[in-house]
Amino acid sequence: MTENTPRTPQAIADAERWTAHNYHPLPVVVAEAEGAWVTDIDGRRYLDCLAGYSSLNFGHRHPALVGAAHAQLDRLTLTSRAFVHDQFAEFCQRLAALCGKDLVLPMNTGAEAVETGIKVARKWGYQVKGVARDRAHIVVAADNFHGRTTTIISFSTDEDARADFGPYTPGFTVVPYGDLDALRGAVTDDTVAVLLEPIQGEAGVLVPPAGYLPGVRALCTERNVLFVADEIQSGLGRTGRTFAVEHEGVVPDMYLLGKALGGGIVPVSAVAADAAVLGVLRPGQHGSTFGGNPLACAVATEVIKLLETGEFQARATELGERLHNGLAKLIGDGVTEIRGRGLWAGVDIDPARMTGREASERLMARGILAKDTHGSTIRLAPPLVITADEIDWTLDQFAAIL
Ligand SMILES: Cc1ncc(COP(=O)(O)O)c(C=O)c1O
Repeated sequence: MTENTPRTPQAIADAERWTAHNYHPLPVVVAEAEGAWVTDIDGRRYLDCLAGYSSLNFGHRHPALVGAAHAQLDRLTLTSRAFVHDQFAEFCQRLAALCGKDLVLPMNTGAEAVETGIKVARKWGYQVKGVARDRAHIVVAADNFHGRTTTIISFSTDEDARADFGPYTPGFTVVPYGDLDALRGAVTDDTVAVLLEPIQGEAGVLVPPAGYLPGVRALCTERNVLFVADEIQSGLGRTGRTFAVEHEGVVPDMYLLGKALGGGIVPVSAVAADAAVLGVLRPGQHGSTFGGNPLACAVATEVIKLLETGEFQARATELGERLHNGLAKLIGDGVTEIRGRGLWAGVDIDPARMTGREASERLMARGILAKDTHGSTIRLAPPLVITADEIDWTLDQFAAIL
């Protein structure tokens, strides 16, 4: 192989050869990144408009986050929760304050935060609400995406996510997203929680109708049911607020957080709720070897400090407006609909022109990494450090591929 032979095809073939085929990645092999940009193994640069499905809200290798990680690597990386470590309390205190809740419970992946939320809601149902043993019931929304564990896919409505993974976990009712009457009809005396994404990300960045989230809040209060907001993708600055529920002035009983909480460096997730809810757990009833480890806490504490400045939320608002205004001009010209909030957009491509996959491949050829979802939607979620010029350039590339 000469020095100029592209390395990408072989690297992709090698990856395909040695992994289960549970993803269909774009044909790019990333080797380096900084801020909003990544570089592949052949030296090509791309603007990262996926940002690790919103895990890289602060960009790749944000200096404050990398600095915190380096400093912690040199001191202490893991204790397990069998011992307390010196990074734990500050992380928990700052995250609880950010959420306006009494307590937090750190885990690692988003799916683990969701599983934790389900367990806590069930236990709260039995111990506080007085639901009869094994009767606890949770209402969820159609087209949800909450992760990939067996319990979570049990209430997925996506056949690819679900088929052939049964038997399924009982105790869930699925209702249409955004339909308050359907939700009201599904709540019973045994209902312990309503679990929702305030904006459905994987479904194509679906924003529910105005008034829906406040309606869910009121219904949950009225029926003594926990409102569990999965802010794993929508939270931590992405929509222009720390949490997407804030756009509707809603405070859920429980926040599920993940992705950007780890700063794009380590997997960090968490559940935040008041003591009346999270306080139901006792030693031995839940845990994780890596949850709340020193490295995770050091990085996540720095993430929270970045959010405390409000700078990233403001960027998402301001630049999000620019992005949405620009995308709106493409409607009727190869784009049929756009949805979203802040620096988050679901762009429906006219299927008569091309599939979502084709659109993402054409964007890639023009130096933009973005991923399709559900056939004809492109999801844009660039790092919040993206500049106005880079947004304009992204819009130009979009217009060009259409
Ligand atoms: C809303 C939501 N919840 C949960 C998850 C699962 O997170 P993880 O992949 O870290 O398990 C995701 C991942 O995309 C998500 O978007």
